[in-house]
Amino acid sequence: MLPSQPLLHTAVFALTVFQALASNTFIAAVYEHAVILPDAADEPVSPDNALALMNSNMDVLEGAIEEAAQQGAHIIVTPEDGIYGWGFTRETIYPYLEDIPDPAVNWIPCTDPTRFAPAPVQERLSCMARNNSIYVVANIGDKKPCNSSDPSCPKDGRYQYNTDVVYDPEGKLVARYHKYHLFRGETQFNYPKEPEAITFETPFGKFGIFTCFDILFREPAVVLVSELQVDTVLFPTAWMNVLPFLTAIEFHSAWAMGMRVNLLSANTHNISFAMTGSGLFMPEGPAAYHYNSKTDEGRLLVAELSAQPCLSPNYPPAINWSLYAASIKKFTEEDTFLGAVRKDIFTFSELRHKAGNYTVCQGDLCCHLIYQMSNKSEDEVYVLGAFDGLHGSLIKYHWQICTLLKCKSTDPGACGPVETAQTKFEMFSLSGTFGTNYVFPEVLYSGVQLAPGEFEVLRDGRLKSKHGTSKPLITATLFGRLYEKDLPHPLRMSPSRNSAVTQSP
Ligand SMILES: *[C@@H]1O[C@H](CO)[C@@H](O)[C@H](O)[C@H]1NC(C)=O
Ligand SMILES: *[C@@H]1O[C@H](CO)[C@@H](O)[C@H](O)[C@H]1NC(C)=O
Ligand SMILES: *[C@@H]1O[C@H](CO)[C@@H](O)[C@H](O)[C@H]1NC(C)=O
Ligand SMILES: *[C@@H]1O[C@H](CO)[C@@H](O)[C@H](O)[C@H]1NC(C)=O
Ligand SMILES: *[C@@H]1O[C@H](CO)[C@@H](O)[C@H](O)[C@H]1NC(C)=O
Ligand SMILES: *[C@@H]1O[C@H](CO)[C@@H](O)[C@H](O)[C@H]1NC(C)=O
Repeated sequence: MLPSQPLLHTAVFALTVFQALASNTFIAAVYEHAVILPDAADEPVSPDNALALMNSNMDVLEGAIEEAAQQGAHIIVTPEDGIYGWGFTRETIYPYLEDIPDPAVNWIPCTDPTRFAPAPVQERLSCMARNNSIYVVANIGDKKPCNSSDPSCPKDGRYQYNTDVVYDPEGKLVARYHKYHLFRGETQFNYPKEPEAITFETPFGKFGIFTCFDILFREPAVVLVSELQVDTVLFPTAWMNVLPFLTAIEFHSAWAMGMRVNLLSANTHNISFAMTGSGLFMPEGPAAYHYNSKTDEGRLLVAELSAQPCLSPNYPPAINWSLYAASIKKFTEEDTFLGAVRKDIFTFSELRHKAGNYTVCQGDLCCHLIYQMSNKSEDEVYVLGAFDGLHGSLIKYHWQICTLLKCKSTDPGACGPVETAQTKFEMFSLSGTFGTNYVFPEVLYSGVQLAPGEFEVLRDGRLKSKHGTSKPLITATLFGRLYEKDLPHPLRMSPSRNSAVTQSP
């Protein structure tokens, strides 16, 4: 039987709606939030005081969520620590925590707030999602009682976790993730026993989620992309910028390119703490990003992204990171010296001429550079550097790095943080004999700016400028990770009790 006219209309309409839902693209938002911090306290505040502080942050986040929804966003990510800030001990964070159930319980806190009460923060987040018909991603604290039946139960009878939550447009809890790689100083929280690989499906692709320092390690970050094949990663962070390789926008955009996945990165904003830099990063480069080290305001970013980047015509090819570098003879290796970038000892060669071909090696890694500068100033020092070794003091993890880098001077130890430069490049081509598939291509311009569209990575592993750099260059770097050579984590499962604050790599 043929459907009657109105039915046909309905069917066509339904099909259109479905196609729009199962869309090729979606609109994503991230909000860089200037977190309102609690007053420093030695003793826990009352639950009411804790909630008042969290509500003042959620008032700001609510404005951003409404604005994002008005601009058509399907999902918004807010930062790590964005609701209660930092500066806590294990005891003083306690009044800020809620027991967050497993999403399998199928719960809409907005419509059923007492089911796992008290949960005022979860209720409000859920209502913000439901009210605005948007996925809301937030970072809050989970508490889980335990007792002596569990030998690793902390003395105070509870686990406390740094936790991401995701509510769907109905307000339903669809994901809960406990941060696995706590940063040193995050002693208010416990390490989960096992890494959690959390994913969920949406009409615009498969999503995964992790938090801040997690991005530097294999589990769960790489597993989500390489094994579970998510299309988009949600990334709440409280990232303190560390030049020259680990400023937020620089490393996070490079991770999205190296992993060939969308990364929605929402940072906190606190310039005296060097926290700024958020973005909507795609495999082919940033769709939008924000870095502001001058003023105190937050910032909403909204952009359209491919729902399944691997099906998009712009999807970059898989790269063999060592193919070119292993196939050529070494260029001249001359006048190398050892120099520290922060605490890592690199092998460097100074780029004394306006143009040249250089090779520098360290350990198993040889780095090759072909370059031509446009307007080298006499007093600026650029080097080619190689590093193949363990990075980090407490947590030791293996880096392989090839870098074209501006240094303060050729003094050993002067290749640290430089924020500005004067020299533009006609061209550069950087490659290395990497022993890993996990290499993240970074290009950073003067003033900590990205270079979207101005460079490419060839299938054979060469990081090349497409034409001259439009701005002076701070660094072009291939940042490789040899996860299998990381040392075991010294602190896992042993909660300690001091209260340092920092949160950077
Ligand atoms: C939901 O939206 C309505 C209309 O904009 C507003 O009056 C109400 O306060 C909102 N509720 C929540 C919980 O956000
Ligand atoms: C200890 O914890 C387990 C699991 O949470 C629970 O089943 C048990 O009842 C608790 N025992 C006591 C004595 O509280
Ligand atoms: C930034 O963080 C520091 C350290 O916690 C704090 O002292 C400062 O007040 C914060 N700045 C703002 C604008 O909140
Ligand atoms: C990359 O190229 C090198 C050199 O030709 C080759 O030995 C290696 O197997 C390739 N790696 C991958 C992952 O294909
Ligand atoms: C540097 O390498 C490029 C590409 O292999 C080559 O064309 C050029 O002649 C080399 N220049 C020098 C000075 O060796
Ligand atoms: C090179 O060009 C940049 C941008 O045009 C300019 O800012 C810089 O001063 C120039 N450097 C030198 C050494 O002339």
